[in-house]
Amino acid sequence: MTYKNYPMVSRVVFGRGSFNQLDEILAPNRKGRNAPFIFFVDDVFKGNHWLTSRIRLSYKDKIIFIPTLEEPKTSQIDKLVEDIILEFSELPSGIIGIGGGTVMDIAKAVALMLTNKGESKDYQGWDLIKQPAIYHVGVPTISGTGAEVSRTTILTGPERKLGINSDFTPFDQVILDPELTKDVPKNQWFFTGMDCYVHCVESLNGTYLNTFSQSYGEKALQLCNEIFLENNLSTEESQDKLMMASWHGGMSIAYSQVGVAHALSYGLGYLLGVKHGIGNCIVFDHLEKYYPEGVAVFKEMKAKHDIELPKGICADLEDYQFETMIDVALSLEPLWENAIGKNWKTIITRQELLELYKKM
Ligand SMILES: [Fe+2]
Repeated sequence: MTYKNYPMVSRVVFGRGSFNQLDEILAPNRKGRNAPFIFFVDDVFKGNHWLTSRIRLSYKDKIIFIPTLEEPKTSQIDKLVEDIILEFSELPSGIIGIGGGTVMDIAKAVALMLTNKGESKDYQGWDLIKQPAIYHVGVPTISGTGAEVSRTTILTGPERKLGINSDFTPFDQVILDPELTKDVPKNQWFFTGMDCYVHCVESLNGTYLNTFSQSYGEKALQLCNEIFLENNLSTEESQDKLMMASWHGGMSIAYSQVGVAHALSYGLGYLLGVKHGIGNCIVFDHLEKYYPEGVAVFKEMKAKHDIELPKGICADLEDYQFETMIDVALSLEPLWENAIGKNWKTIITRQELLELYKKM
């Protein structure tokens, strides 16, 4: 038995207002006047002086606003990398991703691809990256994805929706400032928070579970229950707790795996461009068979917050489109093995997945 030797985020700061320390955190990592810090910022913050005025630009530093209506694509990563290489005479001192899972994943992928030759699609998979990334920093502005702690960056490529999983992917630095989540719209708060909840359920009910993942998963699940089911939390407490739930949920799956909801959600994401958080919710709503208790509590949370999920998103799909989604879902073998067990191929049928997708 060989145990995974798992890399973690090297440094983390937590606290309301800790984003103000960004400049002093970055300064020692500057490699020179011609090696800028590049800030990828979720474009919801465009014109939001409260946030952007706190990003201090020196020398050739640059802010690039990232549209987040769609999930990150390999072609988008390659374009960003090429633009940076063409614009600057030296490699950047660092890439800082300020936003949700999309922006953080883009920051991780660009930091990796600046030092690894070829196209990002060639690195989708497990441990294909050979060179360390440049210094990269994650600053979540919405909580739940776990992208701030994960060793992957999920990308939609020409052939698959799959992460660049590697020891070089995790951030060198994360800034957890719960105050940055104060303007997240309610639906997004819920869908992204449920990503965390689903991470916990899938990790805690998986065959890969061990005490390491369990201890993080149980804590994250307890925080989610407080946040989404109880009435006595202040707004600040709720923001603080969800940020830490996201972290712990991410840590939990780091040493185990996600499961059925994520596999099927990647199918929806690949074919229809459904975003990860809402995709998970759409799928999870139908997974009583696999996660009876988790789905029951999810429905309770949904009702409590008056959340309506889109219905019939697969209603008009052709057969070949269902087949594509099923292919994407089934290609994520570790997820199925975690959810069902080593013999999953003898248990999970294409017909069963088809029926599930048809309900969505
Ligand atoms: Fe997720």
